[in-house]
Amino acid sequence: MKLREQVNTTLESPIEAVSALREKYAGQYQVLDLAQGVPGFRLNPSIRDKLASKILQDDTGDYVPRAGMPSLRASLASSLSGIYQANIFSENILITNGANQAYCAAISALAAPGDEVILAVPYYFNHHSWLHLQNIKPIYLHTYPTLVPNSADADRLVTKRTKAIVVTTPGNPTGVTIPAPVVLELYKLAKRHGIALILDETYRAFSTETLPHLLFQQPNWGEHVISLYSFSKEHGMPGYRVGAAIASPYIINAMMKFSESVAVCAPRIGQEAALAVLESKNGWRVSKIEEVRKKRELTSLVFATDPGGFHLESVGAIYGWLYHPFRGEPTIAVVKRLALELGIFALPGTIFTDTDTRALRICFAGQSATAIEELGPRLRSLRTK
Ligand SMILES: Cc1ncc(COP(=O)(O)O)c(C=O)c1O
Repeated sequence: MKLREQVNTTLESPIEAVSALREKYAGQYQVLDLAQGVPGFRLNPSIRDKLASKILQDDTGDYVPRAGMPSLRASLASSLSGIYQANIFSENILITNGANQAYCAAISALAAPGDEVILAVPYYFNHHSWLHLQNIKPIYLHTYPTLVPNSADADRLVTKRTKAIVVTTPGNPTGVTIPAPVVLELYKLAKRHGIALILDETYRAFSTETLPHLLFQQPNWGEHVISLYSFSKEHGMPGYRVGAAIASPYIINAMMKFSESVAVCAPRIGQEAALAVLESKNGWRVSKIEEVRKKRELTSLVFATDPGGFHLESVGAIYGWLYHPFRGEPTIAVVKRLALELGIFALPGTIFTDTDTRALRICFAGQSATAIEELGPRLRSLRTK
């Protein structure tokens, strides 16, 4: 049988490609795995204990309503209303198999093959791959040098075929938080053109902003806004596969046609875990996020002197975005040298961008302070090819 062209030309899993490199590594250094986007902590142990008793209940293996457990939707709506200082209701929430599925459902509700979606660059690679698989044209909104999308630049990219603008804040891979006034400008642009603004807010909890944006305070915001949320990183529970979309009931209904066909509903045990984290005291989560903040500061410190010529362009959430000094050498070759010579595993920026900008993404959050400090001397020892 023959595969579709889009499948053949879609990026293979970058994380698995790095794992394959790891298997080849035979150096004397201890491995520093900065490739996978992990928060460096796992689900609160006291919640795991609670879940253990859920497993023994008869109905834990049952389906739940396709929009999600009513108790979870209500609890998330109430938590989000507090965070955004706005009125968000259960009807605005769709519980999904992670933020990735929420994104796919949003795109599938809005765009058909041949349509266009504006994607802020650097983008999260799965946002790109889903567009590619669907034969929807990504239109690149470059954000250099600030790494913050500009609404005037976005305006110039809108055509009759544009269905949405997609931004991630804080960003993966850059960690950059888009300031609330800029988010509002992007919203006004979407409104002017009658299209959607899709915001992936998977890393919201790691941002230093207290009020991420004002979109949910706008009258009739649901006509143009779809926000995506993930329990994976904030609560250290990616394998439970729980995320959400926050949108108008009309859009939620449209998205459900996709999510029901794909997965019926998000896993019930994951939803129980998500409900338990929302109902638990905040202290544990706050302390974990504080640990990530300290590692972020340490990462900035380590890169303050551009060790080995590696320049930290931005750092935020759980990521750092670096530029390597080897002009003329493809970034993928630098990534391989870092891995095989120094045991440092990072992702090449080329999986997040449409051109090679000499960038690499590192995730520092999964590392100890000692490991982060060791990056400096190791990078300094990398020779020019
Ligand atoms: C921006 C962004 N969105 C979505 C996801 C996936 O989240 P989930 O595990 O909720 O599907 C990730 C994971 O790395 C991400 O970085």
